[in-house]
Formats: sequence, C-alpha cells, structure tokens
Amino acid sequence: MINNSYINIFKINRFTINRFAINRFTMGKIMCGIVGCVLTNRKAAPILLECISKLEYRGYDSVGISTVDENGIHLKKGSGKIKEVDDKIDLGELPGSTGIAHVRWATHGIPSKENSHPHISNEGNISVVHNGIIENFGEIRESLESEGYIFHSQTDTEVIPILIEKYMDKGFNLEDALKKTLKIIKGSYAIGAISKNNPNEIVAARKDSPLIIGVGDKDYFIASDAPAILNYTKNVIYVDNGEIAILNHDGVIVKDSKDNIVDKKINLIEWDAEMAQKEGYDYFMLKEIHEQDSAIKDTLSERDNINEIITEIGNISRICFVACGTSYHASLTGKYLIESMAGIPTDVILASEFKYSANTLNKDTLVIFISQSGETADTLKALKVAKKTSKTLAIVNVLGSSATREADFVIYTRAGPEIGVAATKTYISQLICIYMFAAILANNKKLLDSLDEVPEYISEILAKEGEISEIASKYINVNDFFFIGRGLSYPTALEGALKLKEITYIHGEGYAAGELKHGPLALIDDNVPVVVIVPPGDNYDKTISNLEEVKARGANVIAIGSCADEFIKTEVTDSFCIDENVNEIIAPLIYVVPLQLLSYYISVKRGLDPDKPKNLAKCVTVE
Ligand code: F6R
Repeated sequence: MINNSYINIFKINRFTINRFAINRFTMGKIMCGIVGCVLTNRKAAPILLECISKLEYRGYDSVGISTVDENGIHLKKGSGKIKEVDDKIDLGELPGSTGIAHVRWATHGIPSKENSHPHISNEGNISVVHNGIIENFGEIRESLESEGYIFHSQTDTEVIPILIEKYMDKGFNLEDALKKTLKIIKGSYAIGAISKNNPNEIVAARKDSPLIIGVGDKDYFIASDAPAILNYTKNVIYVDNGEIAILNHDGVIVKDSKDNIVDKKINLIEWDAEMAQKEGYDYFMLKEIHEQDSAIKDTLSERDNINEIITEIGNISRICFVACGTSYHASLTGKYLIESMAGIPTDVILASEFKYSANTLNKDTLVIFISQSGETADTLKALKVAKKTSKTLAIVNVLGSSATREADFVIYTRAGPEIGVAATKTYISQLICIYMFAAILANNKKLLDSLDEVPEYISEILAKEGEISEIASKYINVNDFFFIGRGLSYPTALEGALKLKEITYIHGEGYAAGELKHGPLALIDDNVPVVVIVPPGDNYDKTISNLEEVKARGANVIAIGSCADEFIKTEVTDSFCIDENVNEIIAPLIYVVPLQLLSYYISVKRGLDPDKPKNLAKCVTVE
C-alpha cells in the first residue's frame, strides 16, 4: 500500500506547474479527460460530475459517468457540453460509491451518444474510460468481431472493455484481465476500468497519456489532471508510464510493468483547482497562445488529407472563401497565397454578406468555409446555399460539428479545445491548413517544407514574451490604435486590430498600409499609436515609407520586423524583432503572435478578463 510519510510540496508558480503540466502530464495533446473514484459511505456520481466538470477544458463534445454497485454497472452519457447533457439526463443520479467519468474531444468517431465514454463490454460487466489513441484498434476489432463480439461505437476505446471481459470470462480477475489487455493494445492511454465483480475497485493504467491518483482520507481518485480532484484531496501520486494502479477501500497499490509493487511518493499540491486547470497560466488565452507550436505540429498531420482532397476536387476555375471574424482574416491570407502562387481567382466573402454573391457561384467554383466552431450561424447558412451549386470544403476545429456534416470535404485544424473567447491557436491552425492547401495547389514543395520550421520561430517569440509585456504597459490608457501592413501582412494587421478590440475594449483599426493616405491619416497624431508589420520581403520599402508617414504625424510607432533590421531597432518608439529568416511569405504564421500577446497584456494590465470579453460568445449561433 501507498506510503503516506513522504510528501513533496510544489510551490505555486507558473513555471513549476508547467514543468509538471507539460513534461509529466501532457505527453501528447490535451484531448479528453478522465476521472474515477472509490468512496466510502458516499455516492460517487455527484462527485464524479463535479470532478469531470473541472476537466471541461480538455474536451467538451460529450460526457458520461458510469458507476458500479452490487447490482452491476450503471451508465449515463450523451453528446454535448456537460451542462446540456446533465440538464437532460441528470448525470449525478446513479447508485454506487465507485465510478468513472469522461469528457470527450472527438478524434475517432463523431461526437454522439454511442461514441461517448464510458464504454461497456458486451455482457455489460465492464465499464471503461480512456484518454489516448489505440493505434491497432482496427485489427483488434476485426479479430474480436470474428469471435462474435459486437461493437456499438466507432471508437478505438471499445476494444478495451471487450478484451477485459473476454479475459475475465476465462477466469482472470479485473487486474490481470487489464494486464492481458495492455499486452495487446498499442498506442497511448490513461485507462480507468470498473467491473461488476468488484463493486469497490478501480483499476487504472497509463502509457503516454496523463494520469494521477488522489489519496483522500478514506476516498481514492484517478484523474487526467489535478484540478479535477483538488476539492477532495491535494495529495497526489503521479502514475508513470507502464504502471498500473489498483484502488479500493484498503487504499492504492501501484505496480510496474514487471508486476513489482512500486513505493510511490505522495505529493502535496498547493495550487487551487482554477489555477491548475490553466496549468499555471493566469488565463486560458495565454495558455492557448503558448500551445500554438504544438497546435501547428498536430495540424501539419492533415497534409495527406489535403493532398487527397485536392486530387478529388479536380479542376476548379474559382475559389471563394466564406467566414466570419478571425476566420475571415485567415481566409484573406488564403486569397493572397492562392492568387499569387496558383493563379486561381479567389474571393473572400463575409458569411453574413454572402447572399449577395451567391448567384455568382457555379459548379466550377470551390467554396471554402472556415470556422473554428463549425457552428457559426452565418457560415452555416451560406454553406447550405453554396452546396446547391458548388463544391464545398470546410476547414473546422470541432470534429463532427454542423459544418463538417454539411460540406463535401473537410479539413480539420488540430488545435484541440480552445476555451478563451478570442481565437489564437485555432487562427494559426487555420492558416497552416490554408498554407498547405495553397502550396499543394501550386506544387510549391519549398513552402510546404518550410512550414515545419514555424513552431520553432513561435517558440523563439514566446521566450521573449516579457518584451511585449513591457511595451504593453506603455499603451494601456490610449483610446485608438492603428495596425498597418501590406500584402500578406494586411490580414495580420486586421487580426491584430480585432484581438485588441475584443479583449481590451480599445478601438483598433487594421488598414492596408498603402491605403492610410486616402483618409485615415487625418486621424493620426501622438495619441494614436500605430503598429507596423514590416517583415523582410518585396513590400518592405513601401511599408517603411508608410511608417515614415505616420511617424511624421507624431504617432508612436510599434514596429514588428526582422531582428536583422537596424531601422526598426533605432528609428521607432518601440519594436519587437523576429528571426531574420522569417520572410514576408510565411510571416502571417509568426508575426501575429506578438500582436496576440500585445492585446493580451494590455487587457490584463487594464484589469480585464481576456478569456471572457463582454458582449461576446465563443460560438455565435444567431444570424
Ligand atoms: C475572434 C473570434 C471571432 C470568430 C468568429 C467566427 O477572436 O474568435 O471573430 O472568429 O465568431 O467563429 P468561427 O470561426 O467559430 O466560425
């Protein structure tokens, strides 16, 4: 049994927490969360519901709870956010003091009740939650089906309860049946399993997906992450790769892969649940800005899918992007790339204005819908209209969302759940999809390959985040900002201005740098700072001329440019420099990051909550 005598204390500070959050917990993407508990004298379901709600940041497209008592396994689950599902089926109303729960962010199989966890074995004796991916589930499923087992979901997870039940039917106990199962499955997992035969026991296992154990007074927990259980215990054991754990009323036993009992240390966590949910970052937005390098790496895995889609679509004479807000800015970047590299005429239409252009579409038009949520009402309405005449492609972050069901073709941005209302990592992931799409269309292998370098450039920026915070301090009391750029940097300017408006409530205007002199220059004076996006490339000289124009009107210029650019280091009020190898072609993927940080820090320094800007919602389901 676990030795309680040695307690490590982790201080609350962002970097300490990150060390554990990143190195220890999140080997792989944050998608799905699990919890489980073995309680003494209390019903498990209401506590599981509370615990799993703390993990909604890990996934929110479906949820389920399963408990066990002397009458067997009980289960409630459904697709939708936790609150929606709970309102419908009262998730906390299940008997038994032992149980498991899951929130899902779909990766295999659309969000649906059938695909929600927990998954139950054929005879209903075993219930399992899983976070991770079983890579060889296809062959296991085929072989189990040939033995007569029946599958009810499209998930990779369902093979686990069926295998456990198969071995228990042969006389193995729950622990040994799980061990036999682990020998067969390949991939990553954090698993929690309960069995009708053991109403007071959970067995759990971990490989490359996070798993911790909470040690309470007479209550024991498993969880993907500490925030889930901090209201019940702050004593935590970190389960290491290859270990399995057995939790029952006697306590917790952890065994290594050779079946030896491991003397695990109990660590005292001193941070509160909310802080731990954000992995120590003050806000989800900052956490998500920091997740952009991994979001890019994951989204790059869509390359083969994009290749196949382009082949299948065949000849097109025109492309039309339709989107709203940040997704519209990503689309605008697509227009510049596709027209300049592939020579295909490309329009970008705001979804809410789409109906006026609908009659210009025909069967040779490809209409590309970009949406983080896949549920934006304006975008969905336009998609339904475009389908009647043209081929449709949706670039979406939320698997199984309405746009993915309506469109002919789908590309996923693999950014994981985004909680902050302001889009950050999903914007970068949309851009990555668009860059891959344009580069494949134009047969530009050099550009395609250069995308692999983007995460490194972003990491370099994040390492200098403090510089942006200092710049932000100087501008917290201004009323207006301008953001200017030319060519591919123009959509970046628009996006910088949108981020500023939505989370700082300061008026920000994005403008094509060459267009300022046709009107807005009249507004520029020493009260209106101008952010100039000026990467090296063909547009550099002309952008510098525009920078001089605003400088001459007294504006404080904040220049974002190359680290090799002496002008921006010496001739402007403030500057932030980016690796000199980033040219203006790939700049939109990188130069937007300091703009996100600038808005974030101005927002926080003004005492605002950047995660929840007033009047705005993450998903806009009204026209
Ligand atoms: C801004 C932002 C919004 C969304 C817009 C479209 O940070 O998030 O402008 O981009 O509401 O939403 P989706 O992409 O879900 O269609």
